[in-house]
Amino acid sequence: MSGSPFPTLRQLPALTPRPMTRCECAGIEFEDVLAEVRATGATPEEVCVRTGCGQTCGACRPDFESYLRARLHVVAKPG
Ligand code: FES
Repeated sequence: MSGSPFPTLRQLPALTPRPMTRCECAGIEFEDVLAEVRATGATPEEVCVRTGCGQTCGACRPDFESYLRARLHVVAKPG
């Protein structure tokens, strides 16, 4: 008999947080910010201020910066 019907903590899969792919506060996908940067030549900071990406709670900023770093090879800080 195994006892509890629930798995123990050791039986649970490792929880690996997935990076955010959008700013939840502004309701905008990171890819849409990047597309606008590429299309307009504006800086990521300018697009973030205009769209609100990263401008409210800030929870998306680390993942947004990583997203841009991987695609633009720059470090961008919203706002
Ligand atoms: S999730 Fe982007 S500012 Fe809150």
